[in-house]
Amino acid sequence: MNTFYITTPIYYVNDVPHIGHAYTTIAADILARHHRQLGEDVFFLTGTDEHGNPAARAAQKRGLTPSEHVDEMVLKFRELASKVNATNDFFIRTTDPEHCEAVQSFIQQLYDKGDIYLKSYSGLYCSSCETFYPEKDLLDGKCPDHGTVPELIEEENYFFRLSRYQQALLDFYDGHPDFVKPSTRFNEARSFIERGLDDVSISRATLKWGIPIPWDQKQVVYVWVDALLNYITALKYASPENLLPRYWPANYHLMAKDILKFHAVIWPALLMASGYELPHHLFIHGYLLMGGQKMSKTRGNVLDPFEVMDKYGVDAFRFYCFREVTFGQDGVISMEGFESRYNAELANELGNLVSRTVAMVSKYCDGVVPEPGEGDSSRFSALVQRLGIDSGAALANVELTGCLESIWHFVRTLNKHVEDSAPWNLAKDEANRTQLDGVLYELVEGLRICALLLHPYMPEKTVEILRRLGQGHGTDDLALENAEWGRARPGSIVVAGEPLFPKLV
Ligand code: MSP
Repeated sequence: MNTFYITTPIYYVNDVPHIGHAYTTIAADILARHHRQLGEDVFFLTGTDEHGNPAARAAQKRGLTPSEHVDEMVLKFRELASKVNATNDFFIRTTDPEHCEAVQSFIQQLYDKGDIYLKSYSGLYCSSCETFYPEKDLLDGKCPDHGTVPELIEEENYFFRLSRYQQALLDFYDGHPDFVKPSTRFNEARSFIERGLDDVSISRATLKWGIPIPWDQKQVVYVWVDALLNYITALKYASPENLLPRYWPANYHLMAKDILKFHAVIWPALLMASGYELPHHLFIHGYLLMGGQKMSKTRGNVLDPFEVMDKYGVDAFRFYCFREVTFGQDGVISMEGFESRYNAELANELGNLVSRTVAMVSKYCDGVVPEPGEGDSSRFSALVQRLGIDSGAALANVELTGCLESIWHFVRTLNKHVEDSAPWNLAKDEANRTQLDGVLYELVEGLRICALLLHPYMPEKTVEILRRLGQGHGTDDLALENAEWGRARPGSIVVAGEPLFPKLV
């Protein structure tokens, strides 16, 4: 059986989660659900990055110890994962003792091998990014990502011989042109490596809140090394079985472009140094923007995902995120945009189509899904075959918006089919019986297929659609191999109900 291992970044817990965090988690969940529908053995990992400066400072501000602070904050991140309906197989915390031990043994191995050495260092440090910036990379002397002035830090640190891996990284990039997707990000990462790599500091001497360096307890492991390793350490203790041989290398690490460099340069070099295979792909998505700027806790322009989901429902939110902004690009989201898409597409085009279909089957067929009758089966069969190919290819390439677009095109085709065939007119004359049955079957069958394809995006509503259409909605029924024309069960009973997506006024 094919395996599919997908990860989100592990999120900082200096503050409560925002929509940006929900976004990546939902994207990973869509892919995880899709690969399960394909019958693959999926492992989906998310979690929290709990060490480092920002968490320690946030704790101090609140008059708590770092541990008290992170233990409290992690609850919000776990709650977010379950609120968005994420089907993650494990939730890693970098404060898990198993993770800490695994990190220590990983770096000990690099130290023993001579890939780590001690050196004095001074540099400009942005403690929100947890990274040193060369002066040339600052914008007006400020961090390009956070707009804050970095501090001058001088200390004796352990360094990882990143420079040693420059050529091996370039060779790897050249041999794996789809290692980083989309390709613009690949080029960005490759040219960064090409410009030359300096060794990187992998410990901090002034910070206490971290994993102690095993051979020098006065220093802690740099938070980024601690964090990146989660993708491997989690597999070692997520279950009693060591899952590493089963799932590593990861198929996809998902993230936004803010953390590309760590994943595209430092992570592969650390893996090479320790003899692990490299992940198959990194997929770098864009930023959700609010009022023209990246949403971030530091900037304070964040939307509370809990509020949005409580008000409009989880599935509508999941749908909107990937419908509104092309996955991979930056895009603006807003409550106005959300509401207009919700009404036009979810309430009218999808919800209403389900209601009308159920109502017509109730009225004209006593609630029983008719036999295919005399309809337009060959046209629909061809359309659905094309749709299956297009949507599958899009998701294989992590085009979450492209896939949704092709499904939505089909939703619109079904709406047009209702208008063009006007079942209410056909029903006026019993002579049109088989034609009427054909149209109603096509609507039920078309919607069943839409529900299967939309399932990763809207897991609850699609199951409800199948239930209303009298169709199977268990795990086996949801398998993508059933997204083939002609598998709807005639003779099953439709179920009327409240509007699936009540119109917002
Ligand atoms: N802890 C590190 C990641 C370590 S992974 C080994 C970190 N944490 S973070 O809390 O800042 O999360 C960054 C990630 O959250 C982004 O890469 C992205 O996945 C997601 N997003 C945060 N803000 C976002 C937007 N405004 N838009 C899109 N994604 C957003 O970096």
